[in-house]
Amino acid sequence: FQPKVLAGRRVVVTAGPTFEAMDPIRGITNHSSGKMGFAIARAAREAGAEVTLVAGPVHLPTPRGVVRVDVLSAQQMLQACLQATQNASIFIATAAVADWRPASRSEHKIKKDGSGQAPMLHFVENPDILLTVAQSERARAGRLFCVGFAAESENLVAHARAKRERKGIPLLVGNIGPLTFGQDDNSLLLVDAQGERELPRAPKLALARDLVAEIAQRLPGAVAG
Ligand code: C5P
Repeated sequence: FQPKVLAGRRVVVTAGPTFEAMDPIRGITNHSSGKMGFAIARAAREAGAEVTLVAGPVHLPTPRGVVRVDVLSAQQMLQACLQATQNASIFIATAAVADWRPASRSEHKIKKDGSGQAPMLHFVENPDILLTVAQSERARAGRLFCVGFAAESENLVAHARAKRERKGIPLLVGNIGPLTFGQDDNSLLLVDAQGERELPRAPKLALARDLVAEIAQRLPGAVAG
């Protein structure tokens, strides 16, 4: 039995990588299976929320009852999130967004020209989706609870604390190393203004359910317990 701790809430989750095209065939992307975000979307739905899952290119089935918006690039993901969070009360950013995108996208496939010279690619920075949403009027008014994720290869606690403050969000979730992609298990470090708490290694769906319960407790108007 799962208590419906998010009944009546709208939740937006980002998941997976983004893909930043350089031409119609190629682009750059990040490693991300999307499994954690999809598990969180499922757990939020089980907890009674209306869930929108903004997904980059991944090979995962949509959790039952979840509205899925498929995107490719960070810019598309940002637009989808800005729209979906307009009437949401929780935003959970698990996506591995590419930090940069090619400055321009060639209309046609870039060809080898036989000179042995590789093309020079110029990059521009992508928008920080979590930061942008966390700075929205709704979030600043305390009506949109924003949660970020951090994957670090070292100094997780210090980085997670700093990241939470930099993004101006109430809760930051660290993936406790080693960095593994596509695994079904994980362990998480929850960092909030009070301190840290570890959710020990468990299947991602079990962790997602615990995380949903932790978020529900922190919502404005939640009964402490
Ligand atoms: O700054 P960093 O990429 O380490 O922060 C990770 C957190 O920020 C994750 O929650 C990720 O989904 C989110 N993020 C984002 N848009 C970006 C970069 C990161 O939403 N461009």
